[in-house]
Amino acid sequence: MSHENPVSDVPKGLRKGLTSYGDAGFSLFLRRAFIKAMGYSDDALDRPIVGITNTYSDFNPCHGNVPDLIAAAKRGVMLAGGLPMEFPTISIHESFAHPTSMFLRNLMAMDTEEMIRAQPMDAVVLIGGCDKTIPAQLMGAASADIPAIVLPTGPMLVGHYKGEVLGACTDCRRLWAKHRAGDMTEAEMDEVSGRLAPTKGTCMVMGTASTVACMTEALGMCLPGAGTVPATHADRIRAAEASGAAAIRLARDGMTPSRIMTRAAFTNALTVLQAIGGSTNGLIHFTAIAGRLGIDIDLDSFDRLGLDVPVLVDLKPSGQHYMEHFHWAGGMPRLLAELGDLIDLTQHSVAGGTLADVVAAAEYVPGQDVIRPRSAPIHQGGGLAVLRGNLAPGGALLKRSAATPALMVHEGRAVVFDSIEDMTTRIDADDLDVTADDVLVLRNAGPKGAPGMPEAGYIPIPRKLARQGVKDMLRISDARMSGTAFGTIVLHATPEAAIGGPLALVRDGDRIRLDAGARRLDLLVNAEELANRRSEWTPPAEPLGAERGYLRLFLDQVTQADEGVDFAFLRPKKP
Ligand code: FES
Repeated sequence: MSHENPVSDVPKGLRKGLTSYGDAGFSLFLRRAFIKAMGYSDDALDRPIVGITNTYSDFNPCHGNVPDLIAAAKRGVMLAGGLPMEFPTISIHESFAHPTSMFLRNLMAMDTEEMIRAQPMDAVVLIGGCDKTIPAQLMGAASADIPAIVLPTGPMLVGHYKGEVLGACTDCRRLWAKHRAGDMTEAEMDEVSGRLAPTKGTCMVMGTASTVACMTEALGMCLPGAGTVPATHADRIRAAEASGAAAIRLARDGMTPSRIMTRAAFTNALTVLQAIGGSTNGLIHFTAIAGRLGIDIDLDSFDRLGLDVPVLVDLKPSGQHYMEHFHWAGGMPRLLAELGDLIDLTQHSVAGGTLADVVAAAEYVPGQDVIRPRSAPIHQGGGLAVLRGNLAPGGALLKRSAATPALMVHEGRAVVFDSIEDMTTRIDADDLDVTADDVLVLRNAGPKGAPGMPEAGYIPIPRKLARQGVKDMLRISDARMSGTAFGTIVLHATPEAAIGGPLALVRDGDRIRLDAGARRLDLLVNAEELANRRSEWTPPAEPLGAERGYLRLFLDQVTQADEGVDFAFLRPKKP
């Protein structure tokens, strides 16, 4: 398939990307004739065209406000003199994607890339929100490289239950753990299920969706404030209108994603990831987005960044507050201002100028305690630490800001689960040989293993220990974890067990040692014994249905966590 345009060197609007009939004039004539069936005038059809992705779906409550956002974005485009054209792409909701939403992220990225390249548009407004959607859209936009602006759907408002403030989905997990421990009844769980997600929009803790929205703002790819305004507020609608107008300016200036998403812009986004105590998924997604532009995210540099960057935002699951509180405390512009020289303010924003302009306009809210100054951080070092060692030669990730300080140096006996099914079957058995000092190990849950690298890294505390009041244990896997989860949990052990990574060699009773300060994660088994085990290892069977279709493509092409779990063939060829 060719992506060249036959009409002129720089075709615009309706003339872009003509369908190939061997006669460019006829192609344009036919296109105009068909689109006029929708009632457009010649004046409208001669305007710059802004595509607007419609990711509304009845299966996706995080995108429940998309129709209102589209209407406002269209208004913004028209006020700026352009023609808005809405079109559908895949929509993915966390809880409605089997086997995982991550399995489908790259499919959505392909859909987004090809549809914004195939259809005639001078710029595109990418409306996304639920965890994998904005990463998919930015991956696609980076590869297509036409002017683009992200419009997040925005976070939900908080819920309330018996005097407590609740948020999806940190409190979903906390209350479920109480239920497992026998402290909440079925009836109470039914009642609370109607309180945890009280409005349309994305999870309102600093989970993956909020993390990605904040990082996108720091990256310069959405308007200031657009990452944090609640989904249901009037300001969200105004942000949509402004995004539509901004898209026209981006088109006029030829401001493509590759001009905004520079290496320094990614460093800004990763600095923010540390400063917000953000989701571990943020690293995987932005590694994938950067990879589309040929920019490698080096794990060790990210870890060093973490030593300098304090956690300044006090949001669940690392802290106390919720996204609406962060927004009204000044949101991302205030955070960027507080981060000071840790941010490269010369980087561009889709808002027009640079991040220096964004910071200059930041609101100062007296008395707020959600965004701390650097002199009084929540945590001195950043939220995420990269571990190396013989259990993760390609790296593993620990969210220190949500972990138990007493477990930062810990040695214990391995209790191994061979798969998610194995874990589900045995974790609550009364005869499971486990104590609070042990290390729970889950394997074959990585990119290829599960497949789709599910958010299974939040291994539940075995029921018999939960009933004794055990709240946290050291847990290790090659899986991911929801950004809304908390605990001393080592994730993304690379390479994964399913391709023979060292996690595959661990046996029940082995000693494992974590030293977070030294950034080490080691299996205390000698090299000779490990070599013996490796010679006996056989890869796990492929899942049902692996002989064809998207699953086959996924298994053949998916990369490891340190390459963003993107498909190898979607990354640009190295010169
Ligand atoms: Fe969509 Fe949490 S489920 S953002």
